[in-house]
Amino acid sequence: MLKIGRNDPCWCGSGKKYKTCHLEFDRKLENYEVMGEEVPYHSMIKTPAQIEGIRHAGVINNQILDLVGEKICPGISTEDLNTLVHEATIRLGGIPAPLNFEGYPKSVCTSINEVVCHGIPDPKRILLEGDIINVDVTTIVDGYYADASRMYCMGKVTPEAEKLVRVTKESVDLALKEARAWGHLGDIGAAISEYIYANGFTVVREIGGHGVGLEFHEEPWVSHIGTRGTDMLLVPGMIFTIEPMVNAGKPDVVQDDSDGWTIYTKDGSLSAQWEYTVLITEDGPEVLAW
Ligand code: MF3
Ligand code: CO
Ligand code: CO
Repeated sequence: MLKIGRNDPCWCGSGKKYKTCHLEFDRKLENYEVMGEEVPYHSMIKTPAQIEGIRHAGVINNQILDLVGEKICPGISTEDLNTLVHEATIRLGGIPAPLNFEGYPKSVCTSINEVVCHGIPDPKRILLEGDIINVDVTTIVDGYYADASRMYCMGKVTPEAEKLVRVTKESVDLALKEARAWGHLGDIGAAISEYIYANGFTVVREIGGHGVGLEFHEEPWVSHIGTRGTDMLLVPGMIFTIEPMVNAGKPDVVQDDSDGWTIYTKDGSLSAQWEYTVLITEDGPEVLAW
């Protein structure tokens, strides 16, 4: 790494001199590294201007999910949800990040019942009473990304489905309490998996959360199963998603061969997911999108 002079401008882009900005912070990181900790690169630590931009993308992303919550009901198709998300995103000055992302064909992911994630909107799939659905919205505003998803229950659902949806949300809220500066990424996965297992459900291992903000998917990878005190150190300025996929049955998942996207539970059991975009600050987590 290039050594920055004490009087040079700080790498964070604040415009302040390094010695009055991140010098002490970098020394602290170096000390942790010497002690054997895995510390984030500077590229995983957002500058104040980037945080401002990502926060704004989060506001827009929340508005889109609020609108989904107002309109979603049995009888509409997942394609209708796609149109709703696409048009709202454009109207609010954003770009739907999923559209054309690595060939993904739509503007939102809609994952129903045994679909774990990456369900593709379809005019033939009409929402039915009893369905549980995850709607995953990612919005680009002025080049900055925010990523969040919520579950919706269509009318009356089974007690098991209701519990799965509720417990999955509760696991993210519990994990948030552990998303503190100078803690560890493993604390988050531990909080989620302990709570989920205690409730008789399982956690998908293969798909995790991710750094987000300047791109759709950045480092670090966020496991939803973990051990406290292990994995990367959490540092102020890091922004990543927490997005556990929780199955009512076995944790194994399979990908649809024909569309190349849809992920199902292997045993056909129900799956739920909630996703937040979270900023780590000295004063605790700030949820930028939910
Ligand atoms: N929004 C998903 C996530 O939480 C990613 C969807 S990728 C897509 O990471 F291409 F399917 F949109
Ligand atoms: Co995500
Ligand atoms: Co998402």
